[in-house]
Amino acid sequence: MAILEAKKIRAGYGEMEILHGVFVKVNEGEIVSIIGPNGAGKSTLLKTILGLLKPLEGRVILDAEDITGLDPDRIVRKGICYVPQTDNIFPSLTVEENLEMGAFIRKDDYKNRMKEIYRIFPELKERRKGRAGKLSGGQRQMVAIGRALMLEPKILLLDEPSASLAPKLVQLIFEKIVQINRSGVPILMVEQNTREALKLAHRAYVLAMGRNRFHDTGEALLKNEEVGRLYLGG
Ligand SMILES: Nc1ncnc2c1ncn2[C@@H]1O[C@H](COP(=O)(O)OP(=O)(O)OP(=O)(O)O)[C@@H](O)[C@H]1O
Ligand SMILES: [Mg+2]
Repeated sequence: MAILEAKKIRAGYGEMEILHGVFVKVNEGEIVSIIGPNGAGKSTLLKTILGLLKPLEGRVILDAEDITGLDPDRIVRKGICYVPQTDNIFPSLTVEENLEMGAFIRKDDYKNRMKEIYRIFPELKERRKGRAGKLSGGQRQMVAIGRALMLEPKILLLDEPSASLAPKLVQLIFEKIVQINRSGVPILMVEQNTREALKLAHRAYVLAMGRNRFHDTGEALLKNEEVGRLYLGG
């Protein structure tokens, strides 16, 4: 059962078309990775799904509802939360204030949700009164992901969650992502750590120059010679 589907997406910036008919699907319970070279259009695809860019053509379907062309705030309310590639926390606010910002549209008591997020990220609980800007790169990424989870989204979009982290922290962030997924949240993530991203993904897509190149299970793509040679550095 698809929770999210983007179909035949054509999108770009102004006159410049970047995505030339791209598709991607995430089923209930899945981690789906998108990999591909720099400039392939991976971030552009996530931005289009979230409504930050309006597609020239194509449809975005969330949980059987057509959400194409809605504004980002409407899309977030409908259950897609997104962690952008950069500038994804409020550095001058505390960890806890960052999480509260994530819950800003909740009318109910979100304190239980915060407890669950501290269960996933105990390292944040210890530092909840500290400024987010003072944290390490890995912890900042946890704040960004935790904030996105405050709304209990139907699906979480992550743009390069492991970017610029030391190898040990890359592993830790990936473990957290698996843990979040097992708690019931489907995940669509863009990654440059391609091998790791394929290892933990149920399925994955390779994008290049604004088009789909390959899609299969993560395992099958890891074994695919052409994918290995072209996109995984041999
Ligand atoms: N705000 C923008 N205005 C104009 N062009 C943009 C903008 N953002 C990205 N582009 C261009 O769109 C193309 C795709 O960019 P995008 O950020 O989607 O690639 P990506 O696959 O995420 O790459 P990376 O791996 O470097 O993050 C690139 O040629 C880029 O220069
Ligand atoms: Mg990108």
